[in-house]
This record gives sequence, structure tokens and C-alpha cells, in this order.
Amino acid sequence: MNTEVFSASRLSVAPMMAWTDRHCRYFHRLISKNALLYTEMVTAPALVLGGALRLLDFNPEEQPVALQLGGSDPDQLGKATALGASYGYDEINLNLGCPSDRVQSGSFGAVLMTEPDVVRACLEQMQHASTADITVKCRSIREHFGRINKIRCVPFRKVLIERVRIVKHSVSFR
Ligand SMILES: Cc1cc2nc3c(=O)[nH]c(=O)nc-3n(C[C@H](O)[C@H](O)[C@H](O)COP(=O)(O)O)c2cc1C
Repeated sequence: MNTEVFSASRLSVAPMMAWTDRHCRYFHRLISKNALLYTEMVTAPALVLGGALRLLDFNPEEQPVALQLGGSDPDQLGKATALGASYGYDEINLNLGCPSDRVQSGSFGAVLMTEPDVVRACLEQMQHASTADITVKCRSIREHFGRINKIRCVPFRKVLIERVRIVKHSVSFR
């Protein structure tokens, strides 16, 4: 793992849709030089189909910056990762934590925690596509949270840690 990014990631500003755009991140960077900043979630299909490329632009002053991707198609995620890396992102993060109905209906975000084999395929493609750090952000397991339960969590963690050797994963607790 890139040591500068690793040391910055001791303090991060979480990805937030409609908030952590490039302007917000620039402002955050003025507050601290020692923090890892995340983009909003950008969906892999939107990038691959070309509709969201403007969301990848950022000011080098913002670095280190991690691009957060949403998606569940390994091929699309691989291509979106390569695109992100070509723009100079230090880390590419896969969103495995968003519980919103809209995101679940697109079969990505937190619902992917029930699909460890899909997660493995996605992460492997992302790792093949770039030398940037590939990380995940997932969600804590709570009884009331739909299909995600503790039994499914075990293979999920095995995939992250043993199979694809993910170096860092963050957990959203609400
Ligand atoms: C307005 C808003 C937008 C968010 N958008 C994202 C997102 O795009 N990707 C993501 O992984 N989490 C997203 N989150 C979740 C946050 O990254 C974070 O995990 C959550 O707010 C819990 O952290 P906190 O307890 O510090 O608020 C969002 C949260 C908020 C409040």
C-alpha cells in the first residue's frame, strides 16, 4: 500500500453523495493536509458509458484522494478503475455499504455483502486494472438490515481478507 496514502487515511472524510465533490474536498484540504478525502460515489456504468467523466476531474491540491465506485459488474468496475487511475486517484474504493432502495435495486452497495463471489470477481478485476490501492467500504451487520445477516458475513470477510487480500476496509455503522 502507498505509505503516504496509508498515513493520510488515519483521518478520512467519508464519501458523501451531493457533498464531497471537488469543491468540498478542496475546502477540506485547506483544513488539513493529513487526511484522505473521498469522492462521492460514482457508478461504474456512468463512467464507462461516458456520462460522468466530468466527475473525475480534480485539483492536484486535493491529493491524496480516493475515488469511490458503485457497481456490481466486474468488467465495468475494471474499466472504471482504469479510468479513475488514469486521472491520478490514489485509491479506488468499492461501495459495499450503501443501503438505499435505489442503490439496492441496481444490485450494488450494501446488498453486495450477500454476494461474496460477485464481490471477489469485482475486486479481482479492479486489482487487475490498476496498481492504485483497491479498498472497500462496507456496513456493520445489523439484524434489521434486510438480507444481510451474520451468517453471510463470514464468507464475505473471507473474500476480503484471504482471497483478494484487500489492504483496508472501512465500515459504516449507520
Ligand atoms: C449525505 C450523505 C451522503 C452519503 N453518501 C455516501 C456515499 O456516496 N458513499 C458511501 O460509502 N457512504 C455515503 N454516506 C455514508 C457516510 O460515508 C458515512 O459512512 C456515514 O455518514 C456514517 O458516518 P458518520 O457516523 O461519521 O456520519 C453518506 C452519508 C451522508 C450523510
